[in-house]
Parts: sequence; C-alpha cells; structure tokens
Amino acid sequence: MNKVYEKLERSFASIKDKIPFEPKLALVLGSGLGDFAETIDIKTIINYDEVEGFPLSTVAGHEGRFVFGYIDNLPIVIMQGRVHYYEGYEMSDVVLPIRLMKKMGAEVLFLTNACGGVNKEFNVGDFMIIEDHISFFIPSPLLGENIEELGTRFPDMSEIYNREIIKIIENTALENNINIRKGIYLQYTGPSYETPTEIKMCAKLGADTVGMSTACEAMAARHMGMKICGISCITNMAAGISENPLSHEEVAETAKRVAPIFKRLVRESIIKIGQNI
Ligand code: HPA
Repeated sequence: MNKVYEKLERSFASIKDKIPFEPKLALVLGSGLGDFAETIDIKTIINYDEVEGFPLSTVAGHEGRFVFGYIDNLPIVIMQGRVHYYEGYEMSDVVLPIRLMKKMGAEVLFLTNACGGVNKEFNVGDFMIIEDHISFFIPSPLLGENIEELGTRFPDMSEIYNREIIKIIENTALENNINIRKGIYLQYTGPSYETPTEIKMCAKLGADTVGMSTACEAMAARHMGMKICGISCITNMAAGISENPLSHEEVAETAKRVAPIFKRLVRESIIKIGQNI
C-alpha cells in the first residue's frame, strides 16, 4: 500500500473510537480565530498528540486539537491550530489532518487564515473570500505516487473554491453588514515575510493577498472531491506596500481586534452552508 495512505489509515485508526459523529463540515481556524472553537456546542476534543503520526505544531499561540461539536445542529469538526509547511514537515504531513477530516466524513472544508494585503485597494482588517489561489511557490501535496483511494492522478483545479458557497458567504456578509472582498490568495512557504520585490511580483501575477498556508490544504481537499471555501483576514499590508517592517505582533494584534466580526461571519456562513449544501 502507498506509504502516505498507510500512515493516514494508522492515524485514523488511533482516534476512530473517540470520534463522536460524522462531521458534515471541517473548519480550519487561522491566526487569532482559535478561540472560535470554544463558542460552539462542544461534544468531544481530541488533542493532536493523541493522533498517531500527527505532525505537532511548533508555532506559539497555535493550539493543537480537533474540536467536535455542533453549530445550529450541524455536526462539525474544527482544527484548532493548523500545520504549516514552514515548520519543516513533508507536505504530505501538512495535509494529513485535512485528509483525516475527510475520512471522518466531512464533505465541506472551510478554511480561514491571516494574510498580507497585496491589492492596494484593500485595508488592514478587511476580510476576503478566496476565489482562487496561486500555489506555484510551494510543492504540491499531491506529488509522489497517487493515492487512488483518495482521488485521481490528475485532479481538475478549475474550481477549487465552490462558487455556490462563495455566494452564500457573500450574502451572509451583506446581511450582517460586514464589508467583504473577493480575490486571489498566493501561498509562499514562509517563514520569513516576503521582500517588497516578491510582493510586486505577486501583484503582477494577479494575487490580492499572500500567506503561508491554505492553498496546499485546498489542493489536497479538492483531490478528494471536497467542497471548499476560504476566508482571509488581512492583518497587515504586505512588504513594500506598508511603510513599516512586518511583525508577527502586528498580525496577531489585527487578528485579535477583528476576531469578533470574523467569528460572526464564519458562524453565520456555516449555518447557511449547513442549510443549503
Ligand atoms: N505575508 C505572509 N504571510 C502573512 C502575512 C504576510 O504579509 N501576514 C499574515 N500572514
């Protein structure tokens, strides 16, 4: 059997009996959103260190656990803390939790992140629905022998982010008086922030935002046929667009400041998605 798939099977077997239900939706919480998990009707928590073979997050401030619970009767699983490629793991390990959540039963993947604003019309604190991404600067999570049990060798990526769900999130934002952007997310490896010249290149390539996560997860999920959506929080303007040097403190501070609105948008969107998908 394929080694990556074998590991996934082992990881799944190690927690199978603790999973309380088949989640309909999987939610990945980005920087600053972590405590959203505590606002839902929690049924079970599985710490990442209980999952055999799980790449344990090394980032300070990133909790590491799956939280199972309900939002308005919809059973969901939340990743409170994600795995980043810059931590040094193989890409197949970075997307292992996404594959695990599909194995648990989740058909919809809701991704969130903190990112830098490349589009000069965007402002710090804005939210952007991800319409598409550029993953060219990171290795594909699908490299290597294809896992036939998960999906096809050459998966279509012409609509990674589900248009129906994009519409639902857009309408939800409108109904809640939340200003929302739409655009393209570009993933770099990190962990350094980009140079001003790299950001100019991003803009020329058509990116509106830049970050260090998400695209690889979306690709692995699309390979498995999941329906995907994503919202970015613009925590800072990217290098060279902002006059100031970038810092994790600024990212964390903005994320924290806008978290109440972000949480409302995510919660209300999930309720609508549950009713419509
Ligand atoms: N660049 C990359 N990742 C980020 C940024 C940024 O400016 N802000 C938050 N995550």
